[in-house]
Amino acid sequence: MSRIANIEDLPNNSSCSLQVDHLDILLVKRAGQLFLYENKCPHANDTLDPMGGSVCSADGLLLHCQRHAAEFLPDTGECVGGPCMGEHLNAIAFTLSNGDIYLD
Ligand code: FES
Repeated sequence: MSRIANIEDLPNNSSCSLQVDHLDILLVKRAGQLFLYENKCPHANDTLDPMGGSVCSADGLLLHCQRHAAEFLPDTGECVGGPCMGEHLNAIAFTLSNGDIYLD
């Protein structure tokens, strides 16, 4: 397993992206809980954050794709608005140990 970050690196109700071994990963922290997804919007199979920064709404309730405004639930990755409604972000398995995040 490889450590990719620490949960404290990410503010609550925010996201960040990073690349590990050619895999684009979207880290999402909502209400203190962490979720990892492939950073690939099902609409155009491209990253959600071409403009950089967080794609998470301030209240932590939605992720917004910066390309064509698809909206996703942070905890399931389900698209609940926009052009890929009903599709999902691909979840990435990880282990949290003492705050450190490891890909499984
Ligand atoms: S690429 Fe995400 S909404 Fe189009």
